[in-house]
Amino acid sequence: MGRKKLWRLEELEGFDNLIQFTDQPEQDDFRLRGIWAKDHFKNSNPITLELACGKGDYTIALAEKHPDRNFIGIDMKGPRLWSGCVAAHERGLTNVAFLRIEILNLAHYFAEGEIDEIWITFPDPFLKNGSSNKRLTATRYLEAYKQVTKAGAAIHLKTDSSPLFEFSLRSLRDNRCAVEEKVDDVHDDEERHEDLYIKTNYEKKHLADNRIIKYLRFSLAE
Ligand SMILES: C[S@@+](CC[C@H](N)C(=O)[O-])C[C@H]1O[C@@H](n2cnc3c(N)ncnc32)[C@H](O)[C@@H]1O
Repeated sequence: MGRKKLWRLEELEGFDNLIQFTDQPEQDDFRLRGIWAKDHFKNSNPITLELACGKGDYTIALAEKHPDRNFIGIDMKGPRLWSGCVAAHERGLTNVAFLRIEILNLAHYFAEGEIDEIWITFPDPFLKNGSSNKRLTATRYLEAYKQVTKAGAAIHLKTDSSPLFEFSLRSLRDNRCAVEEKVDDVHDDEERHEDLYIKTNYEKKHLADNRIIKYLRFSLAE
């Protein structure tokens, strides 16, 4: 690991808006399960997760636009989360937290029905043969979301990857999820809800490469 990444990992230890797993999980790692709003955010506002948040661009932008909601960016890579933690501090955002965990383990960190909404932003498409179960719309991930979301919670997916988009549509159908909105080109001429136009680090790179951004909004089977 490079020196910059190591330094960022060390500095993360001191951030009060980051919760990290430990290699040997202890009870204390799960201390906020079921009480995130009350104990961490000191309010009773709804909670949105950004999964695969990387540097947390969506989390930060959504938190600025919606001060009456709480936002938690989740990724397993600490040095990327560092950028989000710093941005939240610099902007004085108290409705933002970051959590460094494997997304499959959501149910260890959140109680049933604790989450109101999920954004999945530019997840890795995992195109190699045999790696499709690592995609964040594979059945085992949908089951993990089911364990922590309220009934009917909106789940948003943005991607530039056609194979991932097509895979997601098949997986949602196989898992009896309801697709509520499907957009084949987010940046066409039609006007849609504002939150859709927040651009992450990866989205900016994809747009510079003239890639088409796709979007799905769905809810899990009851
Ligand atoms: C392509 S990056 C996108 C980052 C950000 N959403 C953006 O658009 O700039 C995908 C991110 O997903 C994270 N990731 C992939 N699978 C994950 C998993 N199972 N649990 C936690 N993080 C994951 C990676 O660490 C990486 O930061």
